[in-house]
Amino acid sequence: MQISDLTDKFIREVREYYGNEFIPLHRPIFDEIEKQYLFDCIDSNFVSSAGKEVDSFEMQLCDITSSKYAKSTVSGTAALHLALHALGVGSNDEVLTQRLSFVATANAISYCNAAPIFLDVEPETGTLCPHLLRDFLEKNTKIDNGGRKNLSTGKNIAACVVMHTFGHPARMQEIKSICDEFTIPLIEDAAEALGSYIGEEHVGKNSLLTTYSFNGNKIITTGGGGCVTTDDSLLAERIRHLATTAKTPHQYEYFHDEIGFNYRMPNLNACLGLAQLKKLDYFLNNKRKLALIYKNLFENSGAHFWTEREGCKSNYWLNAISFNTSEQKQYFLEKTNKKGVMTRPVWTLLDKLPHFAYCHVLKTGVAEKIYDTTVNIPSSAI
Ligand SMILES: Cc1ncc(COP(=O)(O)O)c(C=O)c1O
Repeated sequence: MQISDLTDKFIREVREYYGNEFIPLHRPIFDEIEKQYLFDCIDSNFVSSAGKEVDSFEMQLCDITSSKYAKSTVSGTAALHLALHALGVGSNDEVLTQRLSFVATANAISYCNAAPIFLDVEPETGTLCPHLLRDFLEKNTKIDNGGRKNLSTGKNIAACVVMHTFGHPARMQEIKSICDEFTIPLIEDAAEALGSYIGEEHVGKNSLLTTYSFNGNKIITTGGGGCVTTDDSLLAERIRHLATTAKTPHQYEYFHDEIGFNYRMPNLNACLGLAQLKKLDYFLNNKRKLALIYKNLFENSGAHFWTEREGCKSNYWLNAISFNTSEQKQYFLEKTNKKGVMTRPVWTLLDKLPHFAYCHVLKTGVAEKIYDTTVNIPSSAI
């Protein structure tokens, strides 16, 4: 199908689904429950970092993700920073991650004064390529003094951070077995993947620590917010301590035993989160229906609609299509945005950002191809 015909057809069908107003990429859905919970929270005076709704929110997150512990935070970025810091990532370290991600994934590594190493992604899901990970670890590292050292820089490979792109689960079993074999601690950046499954398991079960975001554009929102989940009681306690300015428990004394962070989620935000969690199943079903509509729309069109890989369930947080050429992508972006249908290119690859230009990068060209041809399309639930 000609790109002009396909774009017109897309605009027609997306308008039929969402209506004639401006169509955003992803908007939150609120109704009376959110208002009621927020009013109740204000009435209680517990709007800040203490409050029983924070505990309830964390308990529900444990339930949904089948995790033993969850610590809510002010953002997904703060959650990532805490996870890396809790593993002791520091200035003589490097952290393996993927080239295609939101900038927060790599920023959090830099907040620890460590250097990201960017690996290319695999084509089906746009997530970290396990073959490249093994290749890098086999050829470029060795065990030294109990840690895994990068032979060319002499630095310690302190962690690997995998991100589930647009909600599509990464190849975690393969990645976990490689990380276990090479003794690399594994973190999942599941900012986009609440409600995504690998087999019967919620994402996050293959790593030491998993982080989520509840920013306004995510599948559920707390306004701003995030969380870290883990099954490890010591790491859970460490995260809680670091997020709470490293204050030691005492009835009235202020004593902090190291430099900590004020990263706790305020109760007001947790109230919003509790109301949103009531709708999570609805959002997931609604998004699955929309993904099916898009799948049919783009069938035999020449453009590829991203679907969940076999054996996995994506939350279809943000839908994506890939064209054959960058010219087609550009045409589609320009026409849809001109017509009030918000579409966006994928993120500039992290190693192309000026502050990460110094980082080591392993390319296969897959991430470039995704960047050149892929567009995110409206994905809000209705
Ligand atoms: C992959 C990824 N990591 C981290 C974040 C950071 O989350 P936040 O915006 O809540 O800080 C986001 C989203 O914003 C994201 O998409």
